[in-house]
Amino acid sequence: MSSQEQIAKAVTLLRAGGVVAFPTETVYGLGADATNDEALRRIFSIKGRPADHPLIVHLAFPTQIQDWARDIPAAAYALAERFWPGPLTLILRRRAWVSALVTGGQETIGLRVPAHPVALELLRAFGGGVAAPSANRFGRISPTSAEHVRQELGDGPDLILEGGACSVGIESTIVALTDSSPLILRPGGISPAALEEAMGQKVELPGTLQTVRAPGMLASHYAPATPLRLVGAQQLPAVAASFAAEGKRAAVMALSGYRSATGQTVAMPSDPAAYGYDLYAVIRMLDGGQHDVILVERPPRTGAWLAINDRLQRASGVIHRER
Ligand code: TXA
Ligand code: MG
Repeated sequence: MSSQEQIAKAVTLLRAGGVVAFPTETVYGLGADATNDEALRRIFSIKGRPADHPLIVHLAFPTQIQDWARDIPAAAYALAERFWPGPLTLILRRRAWVSALVTGGQETIGLRVPAHPVALELLRAFGGGVAAPSANRFGRISPTSAEHVRQELGDGPDLILEGGACSVGIESTIVALTDSSPLILRPGGISPAALEEAMGQKVELPGTLQTVRAPGMLASHYAPATPLRLVGAQQLPAVAASFAAEGKRAAVMALSGYRSATGQTVAMPSDPAAYGYDLYAVIRMLDGGQHDVILVERPPRTGAWLAINDRLQRASGVIHRER
């Protein structure tokens, strides 16, 4: 089937209440018509996700936010203008009619115009909002290729659109504009500094991003099956050696020139954007059961690495937050 035929088929499925996995520049999404409750219920059931978790509604055009949100502040337009289409989700006050399955029963809604050409083509052809969480089973790593989606969800979706590897590779930056000052709910491809520059306004980070939370504070977390540990560059040789001494197979995701003498080493890129592009695919590759532990050399703690550190901390179980 040509890509145009694929899009036409996807639109027909969405209109009929089907569930379609599609590529975005961040991660693959599992999409359904955001006005069709029955279709939305299927998303939750395919993912195994609790129904009180809200879904992001994906739109073709920034102007469509007015269909879904009200009392939209100027900062929202400033961010939309600068970053859409792109890896940014805005949390705004919802319109009264929006389904509780989309909002998780809250007064707010998450909206995003993705940049991937296949996603945009799909959204333009469909015309309405497509609600889509990441196309993974609940609690697992987001898929960054169509093959990952097939591994995660099998034939759960009615169709999986092919779009290659996601160019950003980690989920969108989520900014809430519902309170007096903008708040980053999830760091992503767009840095806090870039957000502030576009809005001409400070953006707040929740405490969970500023400091590391004690494990076990929230019930569910998001991690590979293989334990993942963040280790400082200086400690890496000793930690790797101590696992080897116990007869454990340790894989290493290194940032410096470190190479493990005893196990597999993946040299990760020193640029945060390139690191984000590789991150989930590398974790997936190392999580196949061939290692007892994944040792990750801790990235710098600077703003440019905020999203990477957030995802690594979640994957290591240091931050337990629901997905
Ligand atoms: O990059 C992305 O954002 C990807 C692609 C597919 O667009 N989507 C994604 O969706 O990561 P999901 O459902 O896996 O994560 C969305 C996060 C969830 O943590 C959800 O709780 C939060 O966004 N969220 C959605 N709507 C919200 C709302 N109204 N208020 C607060 N958080 C919201
Ligand atoms: Mg997700």
